[in-house]
Amino acid sequence: MNTERIKPVTARTFQQMKDNGEKITMLTAYDFSTAKYIDEAGVDSVLIGDSLGMTVLGYDTTINVTVEDMITFTKAVSRGIKRALIVADLPFLSFNVSKEQTTINAGKLIQAGANAVKLEGASDFILDEVKHLVNSGINVVGHLGFTPQYINTIGGYYIQGKSYENTLKLLKQAKKLEENGAFAIVLEMMPEESAKYISENLLIPTIGIGAGKYCDGQVLVIDDILGKYWGNTPKFVKQYANIKEIMKNAVSQYNTEVKNIIFPDSEHSFRLTESEREKFEYSIIK
Ligand code: KIV
Repeated sequence: MNTERIKPVTARTFQQMKDNGEKITMLTAYDFSTAKYIDEAGVDSVLIGDSLGMTVLGYDTTINVTVEDMITFTKAVSRGIKRALIVADLPFLSFNVSKEQTTINAGKLIQAGANAVKLEGASDFILDEVKHLVNSGINVVGHLGFTPQYINTIGGYYIQGKSYENTLKLLKQAKKLEENGAFAIVLEMMPEESAKYISENLLIPTIGIGAGKYCDGQVLVIDDILGKYWGNTPKFVKQYANIKEIMKNAVSQYNTEVKNIIFPDSEHSFRLTESEREKFEYSIIK
């Protein structure tokens, strides 16, 4: 019997990693097997990001994603994880409406298997919600900089924190998130110097996406690094594989082989024994 126990990554581990200057790794995952491979590769955290709206559900933005969608994918991912810290996104308007609604929705994600929830923004209203969630026993990750759920009010995919004043504003928001109990903050799409300034002035770790090397950790969308995503890939993504081409080639080969009766061949088929086969040959059904 294998009695080896795996020590899970927790919010506390994140803090220790920042304090020790050790980089935190995070990737998105949306399904069981991908989550399992990410976990086995030693990645510290998986994010069931509402980016699943685009990567899995085929929407143009994250706005259409519901709590029910997030619950389904969080359950699938959490079944594949033994070590990594599981973070699930609170989707558009599942928070930011009332403290009660936020707590109920966050609770559903935790009950689906997440160890923490992530929410975008830092208005006074949201900060109050963060405090309430933490007081209710729910770990919270903040998300600042480019915040995809606000795409309509931002007006497009613009880099944030491009000036000292804007970066200072982001730092103030980050500090408030920290004060209200968030244990980490995702910083999305900003100059590396701005992310460095924010990261160095916070006690809690920052996880960057398109925010340069000075963040305490990094997160990317799994479909982007595998080269699976059908849409445009942002500048900050490094593609480590070309799964799209591998999938297209495999599927096209399968299609051709079935149409030309190459597949299934004898290697992939079951056969009767000689004596049973003979019975078929001599039997005539009237
Ligand atoms: O939804 C998501 O995948 C995210 C990452 C981009 C951080 O929030």
